[in-house]
Amino acid sequence: MSGRFISFEGIDGAGKSTHIAAVSERLRQAGAEVLNTREPGGTPLAERLRELVLHEPMDVLTEALLVFAGRRDHVRQVIEPALAAGRTVVCDRFTDASFAYQGGGNGLSLPVLEQLEAWVTEGRQPDLTIWFDLPPATAAARRAAAREADRFEQQDLHFFERVRAGYAARAAAAPQRFARIDASGDVASVAAQIVAVLEQRGW
Ligand code: TYD
Repeated sequence: MSGRFISFEGIDGAGKSTHIAAVSERLRQAGAEVLNTREPGGTPLAERLRELVLHEPMDVLTEALLVFAGRRDHVRQVIEPALAAGRTVVCDRFTDASFAYQGGGNGLSLPVLEQLEAWVTEGRQPDLTIWFDLPPATAAARRAAAREADRFEQQDLHFFERVRAGYAARAAAAPQRFARIDASGDVASVAAQIVAVLEQRGW
């Protein structure tokens, strides 16, 4: 039996990390064999590409090609084998992030992204995408308190408005797959929304 594939998405500072750990723990307690992974990254090769994408200046098509090259390796080496073995794959970001960041944020054309997606993922989509949505100003305040900024995190509020709109468009196009979470509240309120989503699916 094929396992479940769950991705987490949202603008930087949305608070995914805490909840990814909690959801993974909950699924483990329910008996699932959970594999935690992330993008960009998830394999030794893709982690090297991640370093380049996050820290070297480059044009947006180069950025997308590197992200999708890493994704190809990740899908083939890690995600597909885990799903085939019946594991639950919990992925911190997946292809929606390319549509949101390279597409929405940096203006790469949709047809180019769709072509890359078709080549690289060959129809594989998460079964559930938990989208942490919140105003970019709230996310920026959280980031400022938390960590040093990478190339994307240094962008201004307008950039993150476009990224957010990119996510909203992907969610509108795949309403069954996407669960929008209001991530502007405290940890407990976000956790409660996520539990409700999982329970709705009998997970
Ligand atoms: P993130 O997942 O937030 O990791 P961390 O919490 O360690 O900073 O950072 C990954 C960054 O990569 C984030 O700014 C979004 C960006 N990104 C893309 O631009 N395109 C993609 O396809 C993916 C997966 C991520």
